Formats: sequence, C-alpha cells, structure tokens
Amino acid sequence: MSSVTISCRNIHNAQRSIVECTVPPDKSILHRALFLGALSESIITIPVTESVGDDIISTINALRQLAVPIEFEGSQIVITGVGKNGLHKSDKPIDCRNSGTTARLLMGILSAQDFESTLVGDSSLSTRPMKRIATVLNEELGADIITSESGTLPVCINGRTLQNAAVRLPVASAQIKSSLLLAAFCSGTSLEVIEPLQSRDHTERMFRQFGVDVQTSAVKIFLPERRTFVLPKEFDYNVPGDISSASFLIAAAAITRTDISINNVGINQTRSGVLQVLSNSGIPIFVNTISEFSGERSGNVRIAGSHIITFRPFSLDASSVPNVQDEIPALSVIALFADGVSNFAGASELRLKESDRISTLYHNLTAFGANIVERSDGLTIHGDKNFIGKALVIDHSGDHRIAMAMSVAALCSGGEVIIPDSNVVTISYPNFFETLTTIASQSGCIITSN
Ligand code: S3P
Repeated sequence: MSSVTISCRNIHNAQRSIVECTVPPDKSILHRALFLGALSESIITIPVTESVGDDIISTINALRQLAVPIEFEGSQIVITGVGKNGLHKSDKPIDCRNSGTTARLLMGILSAQDFESTLVGDSSLSTRPMKRIATVLNEELGADIITSESGTLPVCINGRTLQNAAVRLPVASAQIKSSLLLAAFCSGTSLEVIEPLQSRDHTERMFRQFGVDVQTSAVKIFLPERRTFVLPKEFDYNVPGDISSASFLIAAAAITRTDISINNVGINQTRSGVLQVLSNSGIPIFVNTISEFSGERSGNVRIAGSHIITFRPFSLDASSVPNVQDEIPALSVIALFADGVSNFAGASELRLKESDRISTLYHNLTAFGANIVERSDGLTIHGDKNFIGKALVIDHSGDHRIAMAMSVAALCSGGEVIIPDSNVVTISYPNFFETLTTIASQSGCIITSN
C-alpha cells in the first residue's frame, strides 16, 4: 500500500515564484458528458489534458458493460453514442466501485430501460444512501428499484416505461435531480422537479447543449415529454478543470502564502461558492481570462498568497452549503489559520459523502492540534494565524477529499505527517501529489512517496 510523508522545515525563508497549475477535468461534468454522450446518436470527443480520476473510469467501465463504445485516443475520450434505447443488458452486476455519481445517475437511466440491472459498489459506496433516490424514482416516476434492506447497494433495477411526474425534493441534491431527469428523458416522459435550494446545474446546461429544451428557473426544472437530442453526427465537448480539485491547491497557496494560478477552472455559479467565501474573508483571489465552452464558464483562478497577512473567518449556513459542499474539507483547513472562529452550519449532507466528513474532519483536525467543535450539522473551527499542526498519521477513512485536505494542512505542520494509502486521491485527482509538491517546495516542504 502506498503512503506519502510530508515534512516542512523552512516555511518563511524559501524562494518563491508564481506556480502555474492545472487540475483534472470537472468530475461532475465529465460523468454527465459520458452519460449523455452514450444516450446520444453521435460521436462525441472530449479533450482531456490531465489524467481523469478513478470515479470517471467507473462510469466508463459501467457504460462499456452496457455496450457503449468508449475509447481513450491520445489525450481525448471518444464516445460512440448508442441512443437512449440502445443500451444492452449487462450479464454481470455493474460495479460502480467508489463512485456515488455513477451509481445514482445510472439508477435513473437504467430504471427506464427494458431490461434488468444490478448495481454494486465497494465497501464505502455500499454504506451510502440509495433509498432516497430509489423511493422518488419508484413512488413518483413508477420505477421498480429494490435496494438492500439498509437502503444501500446492491440495487436491483427492473427497467420499465415510467410515468409523467412532478416532484418536490426534500434535499438539494444534484445527483437525485439528475437521476430523475435522465430517467424521464430515457422514458420520454415529462418531469417537473422543485428543489429546496438550487444544486449544481450541469445536467440542465448539458441537456440544452445537446438540443433538449429543458426549462429552468432557479429551483424549478421542467423537462417536456418525448424529447430527443438534436446534435451533429460528430462534435467536441469541452470540460473545464474541476473547482473541487482546485480548492485544495487554493488552500495550499493560502496557508503557505504562495502565489499560484490554476488554469481553466470551471466557475459555474452553482459550483463556485468557494471563490466568494474566500474573497469575502479578504483572501486575494481573482479569476481572469474568462471564457465559455459547451455551456460552462471557466477562467484562470489566481491566488496571491504572498499578499495575505490575516483573513476573516468563514460563516456558512444551509443556504450556502449546496454551492460549496465538496470544498468544505479544503475550507476547514484554511479556517485553521483565520483570524477568528469559523462556523460551518447546515452541512449535515457531509455525513453522507465518501466518509462522514464532519466526523473525519473533526477527528483528523483535532489530532493535528486544532481547536474544533463537532456539531450534528457542521463544525466550529477556532482559527489562529500562527497555528502550527502536530506530527500525525492521518486517518482519511478511504475518502479522497479528506486525504487531500489533510495533506494540505501538513504543509503547516511542525512535525512529520504521514498519509497512509495515499493512492486514494486518484478517485478524483491522480496528479494531486505532483502538483502539491511543486507548491510545497516554494515553502521548503518535502513530500516523499514510500
Ligand atoms: C455531485 C453532487 C453532490 C456532490 C458530489 C457530486 C454531482 O452530491 O457532493 O460530489 O455530480 O451531482 P449530492 O447530489 O449528494 O449533493
């Protein structure tokens, strides 16, 4: 099993210059491009300039099991769409491994096919809730999905024609919303979804890029019945860099006072709350060279870490969480160094991620020496601009974002920090340690793989 050791000696005197970085393609958008591409009747080429994470490989493998041709050709992924009725029954259960988005979006697609499917996952994914999607698909759209007794994978899906539906979701979840939209699209039925708060809107944007007139007004989405994609036979789909991956580099720059620029990061306004939170607290963060491709905005994110003297603490409540939820691990690490007490409230959904992130953050940051309080719906973090962490062997519980957050925190430790099973970061960011090493070397930290 791989491990990484991080030790820092000379934080204040090291040589510094601006570090240019890239991040992998946005995981949420790329999953969706693979699914919608598979359901199209076109050949879709997606340029990928940096390695994609294991979760994306899980979606590719799942689609291949359903007889969708998908190839890596140099630095691009080419999907030959089979149409929404062109998927084939898999004779084996489909293994979604660690990927919740793969499992949940597939539940929608497969519930509207004319064959049966079984979804399984690794030990972590097999503890995550699937019942709340299955219940909405079954009760509102007329699907036939059976979860395990505990409401988790394995899930058996008896595909069938679904019915028109109008659904009011109890939680803001882009995975649930997207699963329903894909189910209704495959079945040719109409769907209205109302969310309590707006979740990321990549699916709605992509439907429009694929020629489907999905109507949206903040929390309300309407997909009319019998819609089909209107696309050229061959086309390119561009996926920007992942802001969730970028949040760890931003955190590294902020706490080590390094200047970095991350190229081509997705800044969709339902995803980029982290930029606003940091800017509001006085951290110098800017976006330039803004462009829009394939319905998504992106830009170069620059953080002038060397200009930071102090910054204000963060305050998040239920209304702001959907827009920053995957960035809370990175924000928690930055909060250790704020001038005051940060509060993350209304974030109980974090307990249902790749680990119970409220608990894993609390335990790791406490062991690191932080003054932090765990609440049922979030964390209170007492910041100190001179904070120095303790030596630590981190316990990421198999969660890629906790492993990355604690690796960043390690850049401000007085002792050695060991990240066991460091390969877990490949779930979303295979080159994470290479990029972190470049940033870390600016402040005299050494990262070694064992
Ligand atoms: C995702 C939605 C979010 C997010 C997850 C990816 C997506 O989950 O945390 O990492 O791609 O739709 P929820 O739908 O559970 O909020």
